Amino acid sequence: MDKQGGEARRITLHRPEDFEGARRAGQLAAACLDMIEAHVKPGVTTGALDRLCHDFMADHGAVPATLGYRGYAHSSCISLNHVVCHGIPGERVLCEGDILNIDVTALLDGWHGDTSRMFAVGEVSTKARLLIEVTYEAMMRGIAAAKPGASFGDIGHAIQSYAEKHRFSIVRDFCGHGIGRNFHEPPNVLHFGRPGEGPRLQPGMFFTIEPMVNAGRPEVKILEDGWTAVTRDRSLSAQFEHMVGITETGCEIFTLSPAGRHKPVFR
Ligand code: MF3
Ligand code: CO
Ligand code: CO
Repeated sequence: MDKQGGEARRITLHRPEDFEGARRAGQLAAACLDMIEAHVKPGVTTGALDRLCHDFMADHGAVPATLGYRGYAHSSCISLNHVVCHGIPGERVLCEGDILNIDVTALLDGWHGDTSRMFAVGEVSTKARLLIEVTYEAMMRGIAAAKPGASFGDIGHAIQSYAEKHRFSIVRDFCGHGIGRNFHEPPNVLHFGRPGEGPRLQPGMFFTIEPMVNAGRPEVKILEDGWTAVTRDRSLSAQFEHMVGITETGCEIFTLSPAGRHKPVFR
């Protein structure tokens, strides 16, 4: 067996009836982000936003999957400005001009739903706005490439080529992942790559596409807390995350916003 075949064999193929569980978990995570949007304003702490996410998931019969995951003690990751991902909610107060990613994972009836979005606090810079728009579009182009017979390299290439066309860079140190009854499982879903590389997509594969795009260089470093990833050059970073399931003809996005609030509306 070649390397590709070996890797592809480790990817769970879910049954048609499994889509409903993943869809319910994904929709709950997306609804949580819909709920939080009204609270993203100057003066609120990231810790307060995290508690709102916690209570929303709990009130809807779900457990925040990040709570206690590898020692992580919060219900969301909240990553501001030059934080790439895994920002820890706390005393930081949101200010006009901040951009932030809120990432939540709901565990509902045994299924995980994982999604993140960018939010803008008041008026943000033109650069920040462009970075957010490009990151969203890059993710959507990756999703458009997700269909049976395509390869994971096709997804990565669609994302990378679009981001780099805008002279932004793709973070290499973090990737999307298989998901379902487990929070993280094979494969690693790279947000860069070449067409035709990597395993082939098949109906029943569930995974996330969650590109992190930097305004400057792609390198990251992890802070002393062991979680917070920041851009080494302190340039702005943005991320969106959807969770998809491969169907016979393409893919279903499990984490579409029920309220249709897919990305920030800028003012
Ligand atoms: N939700 C993140 C992801 O997209 C994982 C966060 S793990 C945590 O995979 F421990 F940092 F919360
Ligand atoms: Co994820
Ligand atoms: Co996530």
